[in-house]
Amino acid sequence: MKLPMLLCLILLYYFLSVVDGLKVLVCYPLPVKSLSILGQGVVRHLLEAGHEVTYMTVYPLKSPPTKNFRQIDISSNTALVAGDQMLSIEFILNNKLEKTPSRDIQLFGQEAARMTLNHENVIKLLEDPNEHFDVILTDLLESELYSGFAVVYQCPMVWVYSMGAHWQVLRLIDVATSPAYDPDYLSSNTNPLSFTERVDELWTRIQWQFFKTFFTQPEERRIYEAVFGPVLAKRGRTLPDYEDVIYNASLIFGNEHDAVRNRPCTPQNFKYIGGIHIEEPVKPLQKDLQDLIDNSKHGVIYFSMGSFLQSKTLPKKLIMELLQMFGEFKQTVIWKFEDNSLQDVPKNVHIVNWAPQPSILAHPNVKMFLTHGGLFSSIEAVHFGVPTIGIPVLFDQITNVNKAVLNGYALKVELSHNLAEDLKAAINVMLSDGRYTKKAKELSAIYHDRLTKPGLALAYWVEHVVRTRGALHLRSPALHVPLYQRLYLDLLAIILTTTSALVFLLRRMCQKRNGITYYGQKKSN
Ligand SMILES: *[C@@H]1O[C@H](CO)[C@@H](O)[C@H](O)[C@H]1NC(C)=O
Repeated sequence: MKLPMLLCLILLYYFLSVVDGLKVLVCYPLPVKSLSILGQGVVRHLLEAGHEVTYMTVYPLKSPPTKNFRQIDISSNTALVAGDQMLSIEFILNNKLEKTPSRDIQLFGQEAARMTLNHENVIKLLEDPNEHFDVILTDLLESELYSGFAVVYQCPMVWVYSMGAHWQVLRLIDVATSPAYDPDYLSSNTNPLSFTERVDELWTRIQWQFFKTFFTQPEERRIYEAVFGPVLAKRGRTLPDYEDVIYNASLIFGNEHDAVRNRPCTPQNFKYIGGIHIEEPVKPLQKDLQDLIDNSKHGVIYFSMGSFLQSKTLPKKLIMELLQMFGEFKQTVIWKFEDNSLQDVPKNVHIVNWAPQPSILAHPNVKMFLTHGGLFSSIEAVHFGVPTIGIPVLFDQITNVNKAVLNGYALKVELSHNLAEDLKAAINVMLSDGRYTKKAKELSAIYHDRLTKPGLALAYWVEHVVRTRGALHLRSPALHVPLYQRLYLDLLAIILTTTSALVFLLRRMCQKRNGITYYGQKKSN
């Protein structure tokens, strides 16, 4: 190719990418490290697609991209979880906390939103009249307050949900699915549900909805009006009603994928992007880990309780028992343990304070993954086709592990003081039975068999939403049909009143004919 032609092409490319580049605000306001992994995935793919990203984050990138990128640091939100006992496995174990109350999660989401919207860096952004965005992408966890950003910038709004198609989020763009076949994400029930389980699911939803309607939502409306009202007033505009705003998202991205079964049906503006957080190809392992895994003749068992719950918060005694138990295996065990306090570590056990998890799981020598069953770890296990032993602790981990067991590539071990012994038995089962690995590989093949990679899908749909000014054509007609109309309760009411009126009239007529004039008296014949 001639040089001038090449230059022309480069210029053309530059010109096109500048023109097409969207200004995107990506909000990741929750002080939960794993969520920021999803946020970083979203940012990475938007940047790769040539867009300009403003990333509002609790965990700012240490070496941020230099082009088309800026961060809004809201790291002080971590104060929300500092010293939270719920994050200690020992505390959870001793207090037998199994199910996280949905009320607590609503309040957590609300508090994070309140802190974010009152953060000086966010206020600065909101008050700058020169700021402009083409689309808002924001993490969604039980609080819809962030939809106010879309009002300020008069642009479409897209939720990025870190879990699957749950009824709590589907109700924002369509209708909540039926509790009869769609268990709550905090529930340990699995399909098909028995009668009592169905009633239990219904009760869970009634409680959630009650708290949302009478406590969370009114408070969020107040915050919405207090924060966004003055911002709009300064711009000479009036604030739309909160209800009109929270049900106005163009799209929801869900962090799940086709290989997971039992997903409810979703409307056309719900898109799965599970796996988006995994970089491809994975980053190379650092040399010591690479050598260790390469040279493990009998394979590697990888153990991590995630970043939210840390292995070091396990009871001391249990940690010692686990170490000793791991020492009995021929396999190399890599344990993500967050400090260097461990003593008498067996020869085959390798402690890492931080683990490049995808790069470890990608290594063919890694035979098994012991995990708390967080959604990101669950997706990675399927992505790399590694069978798992799940030790769920709280939140959605119980459902995730149940699903993995149902899918045939996992075993479940209850968190208890007997963990070391139970885990040993499970490891032995998995080492001797090849079915788990086979199933994990099978699911991995299904997972990878998609029309397009999730990162490309994300960029495409974001662009589509902007190109079509909010993708109103994708919206579900069900969204604005109230529950009583959907269940035909109005018709039922009409049928019931007319029938009872008719019955009443007929009885009156009969009574009259029999000569009884006042109501209520027993017929004499
Ligand atoms: C709802 O979203 C559409 C498309 O993004 C937008 O045009 C409209 O102004 C929004 N409505 C409100 C009340 O924010």
